[in-house]
Amino acid sequence: MEVIIKKDYEAMSKEAALIVANLVKNIPNCVLGLATGSTPIGLYKELIRMHKNEGLDFSKVTTFNLDEYCGLPPSHDQSYHYFMHDNLFNHINVQPQNIHVPSGTAPDVDAFCEWYEDEIEKAGGIDLQVLGIGGDGHIAFNEPGSSLGSRTRMKTLTQETIDDNARFFAKKEDVPRYAITMGVGTIMEAGHCLLLCNGEKKAETIARAIEGPITAEITASALQMHPQATFILDEPAATKLKRYDYYKWVYDNKP
Ligand code: GLP
Repeated sequence: MEVIIKKDYEAMSKEAALIVANLVKNIPNCVLGLATGSTPIGLYKELIRMHKNEGLDFSKVTTFNLDEYCGLPPSHDQSYHYFMHDNLFNHINVQPQNIHVPSGTAPDVDAFCEWYEDEIEKAGGIDLQVLGIGGDGHIAFNEPGSSLGSRTRMKTLTQETIDDNARFFAKKEDVPRYAITMGVGTIMEAGHCLLLCNGEKKAETIARAIEGPITAEITASALQMHPQATFILDEPAATKLKRYDYYKWVYDNKP
C-alpha cells in the first residue's frame, strides 16, 4: 500500500494522471477502470490536456466504469454515462465500442451484471482501477455492510450517500435509491487500484480506510488486502493519518 500526500487537489490530480498516462504509454491496449464523482474530474482534465497537447493515445484503450444509477438513461445529465462522456470520453480518442458503463435501465438486472463481469474477464481484467471514496467509506457504490467479496450487482444507497449526492440533482428526492455497482471483489481483482481523496471533510473516513481495521463498514478498507493499492490524497484529506510523517518520508526518499 502506498500513500502519497500532495499539496492540493491540482497536484493530486496531476500525480494520478501521470500514473494513468504511464500505463497507457507502456501498454496501449490496457484496460482502465474509471470512477465518477467530483474527485476524479481534475485527473480527467489532465488526461484530456495530455491527449490534446502531448498526443496521449487512447485509441486502443478499453474502459469499464464502476457504477451507474438505476433508472437513469444514458441521456440523463446526472447519469454516470453522461458524466463520463462529458468529462472525459468526448474529449479523447477512446473508441466508443471500447467504453463500458453499467446500464441503469437494463430490464434484467441480474443478467446484465453477469454480462458486465464476463466482459471484464473477456477484456483480460482491469489493469488499473481509478477510485474515489464516499463520505461513508464506500468505493463505487459498495455501501457499508457490502460483502468484501461482492460482485457486480444492484445496491440500495444509504441516506448519507443520497444526501452527499443531492448537490448534483435539482431536489434530494430526485437522487435514485438504487445503483448497479461493481462489487468489492470485482474491484479487488484489478491489477492496480488507485484511490484519490481530497478535502478535510473526508479526512476521518480516509484515515479509517487506510489505517483502521479491514471492515465492511468502510468498504475502501478492503484495499489494505490489495497487492498494489495507491492512495493519493491532498493535504487536507491527510490530516487525520497517524503515519502522516512516515508516508511523506517514504515518498520523498524513494530509493
Ligand atoms: C459516488 C460514486 C463513487 C465516488 C463517490 C464520491 O458515490 N459512486 O464512485 O467515489 O460518489 O464522490 P465525490 O468524489 O463527488 O466525493
